Amino acid sequence: MNKFGGDWTKIKIEILVNYAKAFLSIMKGRKYYKLLYFDGFAGSGFISKDKKKDVEITVGAARRIIEISDPRPFDIYYFVEKDPKNFKLLKQNTKEAFPEKKIHVIREDCNKKIIDLANYLRDPENKNVRTLAYIDPCGMQVEWRSIESLKGLPLDMWILVPTGLGVNRLLTRNGNISDIWIERLEKFLGLSGKEIEKRFYSKKLEQTLFGEESMKTKERGAIKKSAEIYQERLKEIFKFVSEPYELKNSQNSIMYHLFLTSNNKAAVKIGNDIVKKYNN
Ligand SMILES: C[S@@+](CC[C@H](N)C(=O)[O-])C[C@H]1O[C@@H](n2cnc3c(N)ncnc32)[C@H](O)[C@@H]1O
Repeated sequence: MNKFGGDWTKIKIEILVNYAKAFLSIMKGRKYYKLLYFDGFAGSGFISKDKKKDVEITVGAARRIIEISDPRPFDIYYFVEKDPKNFKLLKQNTKEAFPEKKIHVIREDCNKKIIDLANYLRDPENKNVRTLAYIDPCGMQVEWRSIESLKGLPLDMWILVPTGLGVNRLLTRNGNISDIWIERLEKFLGLSGKEIEKRFYSKKLEQTLFGEESMKTKERGAIKKSAEIYQERLKEIFKFVSEPYELKNSQNSIMYHLFLTSNNKAAVKIGNDIVKKYNN
C-alpha cells in the first residue's frame, strides 16, 4: 500500500473525480466515443497515512474512477505502475476486484506508456477514442518529450507538477548545480541548461580579491516561476491549460501544482471552476 500524503492527497483525487464525472456526463449522450481512462502513476489502489494511533486509509484514484458508473463508466481503464509491490496490489485491487470491467494493469515506466498512448490515439483505427489521463507522480519522473508526444490528440489530462518538491530543490542558491541535476531539469522542463539558468538566475559582477567576477543568484519566487514556465510549456502542446491547484504542506509551502490540459475550451473551463473551488 502506498504511504504518503496529507489532506492534499485526498483533494487531488476529489478534483480528478469531480472532473471525471463532468467529462462522463458530457460523453453520456455520445455513445459513438470509446472512453479511455489512462493513469500513468496508478499506485496500489489504496493510500495509507500513518497517524499517531491509527492508520487512515484513502481509496486511491484508480479505484475511485473504476467505481463511477453514473452518468456513464469509462469503456477501458489503463493503469501504469512501475513499482513491483504496488503493481501486484494494484492488479488485485482493480483488475481482479472488477472482473467485469476492461482493465489493463501494466508494470512499466510511465514515459514509455505515455508515448505508446500517443501512438495508439494517432492510429486512425482509434479515432473515436476520447481519453482522460491522470499523471500523478511523486517526483520528477515525467520527461518533457513524453508530454510533447501528446500534441494535437483528443485527450484531457490532469498533471501534477513537482514545482516546490522537485524543480525548486534542484535549483541551488548559488547556481552551482551538479551535472546530474541539470540533466534532470533539462529532461523534465524540456529546456537547455543555459535556458534554465537564464530563467531562474540573475548575474552580477562582484569585486573579489582577484578582480571582478560574475556571480549567479537564484531569483526569488522560483516555485511560482517554475509553475509559470511549465504552464507556458504545456500551452505549446495543448490549446488550453487550466490555472493550477496549489498543493501546500502544513507550513503553507507549495509542493506541487496541478494542471488540466485539453484541446477543448469547455473542458478547461470546467477544470478552472473545480480548481477555483478547491484553491479557496
Ligand atoms: C503519488 S503515487 C500515485 C498515487 C495514485 N495516483 C493514487 O491515487 O493512489 C505515485 C506512484 O507512481 C509510481 N511510480 C514512480 N515512478 C514511476 C514511473 N516512472 N512510472 C510509473 N510509475 C511510477 C510509484 O511507485 C507510486 O506508486
